[in-house]
Amino acid sequence: MKSDFLSISDFSRVEIEALLDLAIQLKKQWFAGGNDPVLKGKVMAMIFQKPSLRTRVSFDMAMRHLGGDALYLSPNEIGLGKRESVADVARVLEGYVDIIMARVFDHQHILELAQYASIPVINGLSDFDHPCQGLTDALTILEHKGKVEGLNVVYVGDGNNMATSVMHIVAKLGANFTIANPEGYDISQTGIEIGKQIANESGAKLRFLRNPHEAVKDADVIYTDTWTSMGQEEEAAVREKVFPPYQVNAKLVSEAKPDVIVMHCLPAHRNFELTDEVADGPHSVIFPQAHNRLHAEKAIIYQLMRGQ
Ligand code: CP
Ligand code: NVA
Repeated sequence: MKSDFLSISDFSRVEIEALLDLAIQLKKQWFAGGNDPVLKGKVMAMIFQKPSLRTRVSFDMAMRHLGGDALYLSPNEIGLGKRESVADVARVLEGYVDIIMARVFDHQHILELAQYASIPVINGLSDFDHPCQGLTDALTILEHKGKVEGLNVVYVGDGNNMATSVMHIVAKLGANFTIANPEGYDISQTGIEIGKQIANESGAKLRFLRNPHEAVKDADVIYTDTWTSMGQEEEAAVREKVFPPYQVNAKLVSEAKPDVIVMHCLPAHRNFELTDEVADGPHSVIFPQAHNRLHAEKAIIYQLMRGQ
């Protein structure tokens, strides 16, 4: 298996299914009394160019549960690509730690870290995608629906990094993916091209729509994310005018299958992309989804460190 975790599309369906099996095993083991300390003495450097709650805490706890440790490097600390080149950061860190997880603005930076570091690198979100969340979401769908293959997964909102990873993971596992987003806020061209290749291999159907009501008919899963991602703050006022028809509210949820689940990677901007009523209602799985970050990431780390 590849020694970095950069994008869902780098992995075969069999490899993704193996990671999901491992996550399920590690989750069971954790709730049965704790994980084996297989990473004793191993340390992860966690580089953050942007804020985080879930990624920061779940990776730190995943390392601790597996017997290792993690170092948090805040946006002000290393100045990735500014104070020091990405290649130099990679070559310095590989002498101190055993694995790197990074949250970056520019996807190219995560690729460069992986290129220059001899130790495994994990993408903890870039402007292109968010694969750790994508793997977590597949685990959550599997737990709530018993399968991923053949389901209709519908993403309503901005065609951002999260939409890209949701499309890639569900198409990889044979689920149909629909997005409804406003004009001008499509998934990146590269993200769509990769999605189409994945869907060709798995037989998944992809639909790119404008109308959220048309999109959610027959949905097994409705997924949404913030209208304004980190780094786009100056566009927030414009986006708040464009996106209200894409709000996931009780009316929209009532147009999907009666047992639809509602997902959000969080942080949620309540009563913008997702109403309180839905977030805290019977269809919502947003907190089990957030908790699954821990288990999915343990599987990623465990798998990457096996070969070290
Ligand atoms: N979903 C997610 O990645 O959350 P954070 O930004 O809090 O890490
Ligand atoms: N699309 C969001 C995801 C946050 C986890 C962002 O990039 O800010």
